[in-house]
Amino acid sequence: ADSSLTRNFCIIAHIDHGKSTLADRFIDMAHINFSRGPAQAQMLDNMDIERERGITIKSQAVTIPYTAKDGKVYQLNLVDTPGHVDFSYEVSRAISSCEGALLLIDATQGVEAQTLANLYMAMEHNLTIIPVINKVDLASADIEACLHQIDHDLGLDSSLAVQVSAKTGFGVDALFEAIVKQIQHPEGKDAFPLQALIFDSHYDAYRGVIVHCRVFDGVLKVGDEIQFMNTGGVYKVEEAGIFQLELIKTGELHAGDVGYVITGVKTISDVRVGDTITSTNRPAKKPLPGFMDVKPVVYSSIYPVDTNDYEELVSAIEKLKLNDASLIYEKDSSAALGFGFRCGFLGMLHLEVIQERIEREFDLSIVFTSPSVKYIVHLKNGETINIDNPLEYPDPMRVEYAEEPYIQANVITPTQYVGPIINLCMEKRGTQTGMNYLDEKRVELIYEMPLAEVLFEFYDRLKSISRGYASFDYQVIAYKRTDLVRLDILVNGEPVDALSQLVFRGNSQNRGRQVCERLRGEIPRQQYKIAIQAAIGGTIVSRETITAFRKDVTAKCYGGDISRKRKLLEKQKEGKKRMKMVGNVEIPQSAFLAVLKSD
Ligand code: GTP
Repeated sequence: ADSSLTRNFCIIAHIDHGKSTLADRFIDMAHINFSRGPAQAQMLDNMDIERERGITIKSQAVTIPYTAKDGKVYQLNLVDTPGHVDFSYEVSRAISSCEGALLLIDATQGVEAQTLANLYMAMEHNLTIIPVINKVDLASADIEACLHQIDHDLGLDSSLAVQVSAKTGFGVDALFEAIVKQIQHPEGKDAFPLQALIFDSHYDAYRGVIVHCRVFDGVLKVGDEIQFMNTGGVYKVEEAGIFQLELIKTGELHAGDVGYVITGVKTISDVRVGDTITSTNRPAKKPLPGFMDVKPVVYSSIYPVDTNDYEELVSAIEKLKLNDASLIYEKDSSAALGFGFRCGFLGMLHLEVIQERIEREFDLSIVFTSPSVKYIVHLKNGETINIDNPLEYPDPMRVEYAEEPYIQANVITPTQYVGPIINLCMEKRGTQTGMNYLDEKRVELIYEMPLAEVLFEFYDRLKSISRGYASFDYQVIAYKRTDLVRLDILVNGEPVDALSQLVFRGNSQNRGRQVCERLRGEIPRQQYKIAIQAAIGGTIVSRETITAFRKDVTAKCYGGDISRKRKLLEKQKEGKKRMKMVGNVEIPQSAFLAVLKSD
């Protein structure tokens, strides 16, 4: 292989700016789309949920052969990057597998928060950046404004920008030429010891774990013994090749190549994104830089609505874990909900994706407990403990103080929404650390805020006060001292452990009232009065009552009509499957979810 004819690049874009559509156009135009009909939209996102939500969650690469105007056949390796902040470490590994990036900007929207966040990342890795203005076919496209932003906000040369319509294919040829001309070829040497960066992996039911990698130096061949340098695992290369929608066996990968490796790795947890593959025969001196063990930032427990479904939940979680190394879990149990799992997620979107997959792919009704961040609690006896589960919060008498994680939040908004957004950030205990006018119309606001505040409502409210125009990106920066309390929820005097949450004392009254009100709205009247209370320690901070109601569904049936009666009872039983008994009260699944959601 001649690496002077190779180009490794990724597309960085804000959600919905057209990354998947552009990737599809690349594939169409490179004529490698042989086995699947063109009707199948967005081939790089191969999970249904992704397609429905239009979000790229797991990255996937593709090698596109392209005959350029100079008559040579280039190998263009597109490394797909996930588009959401929850997956930013994966984005960083994908970016560092490339020499260049296409910075895709929706001509009707302009630059947004994630465009900037990813751009900075690409700049840190010294990538050549080609600005690409997409959706120029739309009447509302404002190309002039985009060119201006490219020059002024991004500090890039707008004269190099390529205008395309990923939808119609307009401009895509010119873009291929720009990739070939502007992005440099990879520089590694086959003769050096092997260093290949793992930027993704996926699980295939037939072939096991497929590792996605970029070879920087050396050659990786079938039969070689390899080692993952950071985790230590030693394996034999069973197969290697490139991605062309399917896996195409080549038997070896050379310096500069992007492709896949199949080894005897059994579970995806043994493969860490960011790790370096080397050969045991002639190992590299040190791994490639930037390896990090990704840690979850949000924790929540999952319980089956029907305790009889526990075994099915076990198998669902195990299957999901095969495909998702970042899902962390351990067994958990709750007095109110029975057996379940305590899980760690990369963010709220990750949590929602897992929830949807369990419900949809495994047809299970589940309950999530209130999500929590991880707190550091300093005890009076000098010990420090990490707590992400409210049930493990120690007796307040033993606590000296607690710390909670803070994020740096970057919000980009049209100027007219700055006032309300500043109010929102203040309400969420944010401290402004920066404010940049990107141009006359748009401002970037930088805040330090507790991560816990972002879990509840923040994003939805930001979108609603800015009519969808503000965009948001964040990263966890540090732990800071906080005043923490445990808020308990009691239904008819029984604590519902699954609804307990750790909250900032200043928010506890409001939060307690909110939860009680929502529960009142969600729990149907029953045959006796129900008291819903929120308490901190022994003190009740809020209370709601649901009055009694007598409902006899069979009363309307005439004594003789057994089948009708049975049908009604069955229907009622069906409904109960989605109910959880807590003490003597039936709580619907929706009530647990309602506690997490904002209005
Ligand atoms: P994520 O995967 O969520 O990051 O989104 P994406 O950036 O991949 O965006 P996607 O390709 O899903 O496109 C978003 C929407 O824009 C879709 O409805 C596309 O059909 C539409 N779209 C993309 N490119 C163009 C274009 O050039 N012109 C027009 N008119 N619509 C486009």
